[in-house]
This record gives sequence, structure tokens and C-alpha cells, in this order.
Amino acid sequence: MVARDPHRFVNELDDAAIARLIARLESRAKDLVFTKLFDKYAAHLSPHPSAQVLELGCGTGAMTRFLAHRDDFSGKAFGVDQSASFIDAARRFAETENIGERVDFRVGDAHSLDFPAETFDAVFAHTLISHVTDPTTVLREMVRVVRPGGIVAIFDGDYASMTYAFPDHEFGHRMDAALVTASFNNPRIMRDLPRLMPELGLTLQAAWGDAVSEIGTASYFRSFVETYAPYIVKAGLFSAEAVGLWLTAQRQSMEDGTFFASCNYYTYLACRT
Ligand SMILES: C[S@@+](CC[C@H](N)C(=O)[O-])C[C@H]1O[C@@H](n2cnc3c(N)ncnc32)[C@H](O)[C@@H]1O
Repeated sequence: MVARDPHRFVNELDDAAIARLIARLESRAKDLVFTKLFDKYAAHLSPHPSAQVLELGCGTGAMTRFLAHRDDFSGKAFGVDQSASFIDAARRFAETENIGERVDFRVGDAHSLDFPAETFDAVFAHTLISHVTDPTTVLREMVRVVRPGGIVAIFDGDYASMTYAFPDHEFGHRMDAALVTASFNNPRIMRDLPRLMPELGLTLQAAWGDAVSEIGTASYFRSFVETYAPYIVKAGLFSAEAVGLWLTAQRQSMEDGTFFASCNYYTYLACRT
């Protein structure tokens, strides 16, 4: 068996797995631990109030919808995702939130977009690039569809830094590595962007890192581990028994206030030259 990043192969998942991912994306989007990271760069996505902005890998459209709700944004927000189920959900949520006119969700592949060159004022990818088949091709597409001088923003985790505490450090380290291997096609891609961006015609304007850490209590990392730990077993990296033992210890530490987990996330804001 080999690891198959569920977001890369989302179109091969069954209905129950899709429903679980939709729930995870929506719960993450309501988690303050995480939403503040989007808020830190969202203002840069709208160089003028009526900007046309595209999100690649929008999933259920949570970030695209956040943008559409912002007071400083009166333009149109587009979202593209490879999953028709996610796009259906995104459209439903947008209707419920009364922003149907402000957003446009479409099924598509980030490696080969169905938009003419230089269509958008800004293009962003929020936790997409770690999942795609070929990050360089996706970056090239982002550069193609943004206008000269437009903004390209990439946000994602450096998942090689993701760790959950476990008393047996050696076993815990191997379980961290298995969780990352099972969940992400490109866990170290954020380290490559300073090198890749200039080669693709992007000038870096700003970049910063944030440690997302939960100590004592867990919300973001609880939902993460409950969603993705089963993929460790599916990938054949550990037995169900070993994952169960580790997961039981994580849940116990969440109950008794001794939980610890952390991961570094990075934001890159670049300008198309
Ligand atoms: C972790 S989710 C992020 C969703 C959304 N950006 C958010 O933050 O809520 C990654 C998304 O990337 C999408 N994705 C992965 N590969 C893709 C591709 N080649 N083209 C379009 N979407 C893709 C998945 O379907 C999934 O919805």
C-alpha cells in the first residue's frame, strides 16, 4: 500500500469520507486558532475594492466566503476545486449566507485552469499546494491567470514540523511522520517557495510564519487527528492497533488537560512581475 493524500485523491473517496472532509473543512474554518491566519493576509488580496479574486483548491469555499463577507471587499470572489461534492457544498453555504451573487464556485483542476490569461487581480491558495500532484505547474497557472502587478498568495503548513506529544518519543516521532505521509503529498513544499517563486516570475513582497500550537486543550488538532489518523492505517504505515493506542492517548490527554500539538504555517505574498 502507498500513502494517498485524501485531498489529492478526493474524487476517489466514498460518500462517508467526503462528508467527513466537508465537516473537517467547515469546523476548521470556524476555529479561531486557524481563521486568524487567513485574516492576517486577506486584506492584501483586494488591491482595490472591486477586485476579481480567485481561490484555487477552495474546498467548501470557506476562505472564498470569508473574503466575500469582508467590509473592505466589494468585488467578486471565485473558487475552483477538483471536487464536485465540495463545490456543491460551497454553493449551498454561499446561498445560506446570502452571498450567492458575490461568489462564483466552479469545478476545475488547479494544474490546468479554464480561465484566460491575466483575468484576476489576485489569486490565492489556502492549504492547497501541499496536496497537489505538481506544485510547480499549479504555481505557473496562478502566475498565468493573474494580471501583471497582481498578487499571488500561498498559505500552507510546513508539515514536517507537525508534532503530537507522546510519552515514548521515538514511537511518537514515527507516528507524526506517518500522519504527515498519509495526509500530504508535498509536506515540505513551503520551504521551496523562496527558490521557486523568482523562477516563475514572482517577486516576493512579504512572508511570515506562525506556529499553530494547542497546549492543554485541543480543537484544531483534535479535528485534524480524528479526520486523518485513519489514513495512516489505509496507507499501511501502522497497524490499526498501533494507531488506536496512539489515538487513545491523544484523546485522553485532551480530556485531562495534558495535550500538546504544534505545526508551523507560512504565508507568502508575491507580485507577478
Ligand atoms: C485542505 S483542502 C483546503 C480547502 C480550502 N482552501 C480551505 O482552506 O478550506 C485542499 C483542497 O484542495 C483541493 N485540490 C487538491 N488538488 C487539487 C487540484 N489539482 N485542483 C483543484 N483542487 C484541488 C481538494 O479537493 C481540497 O478541496
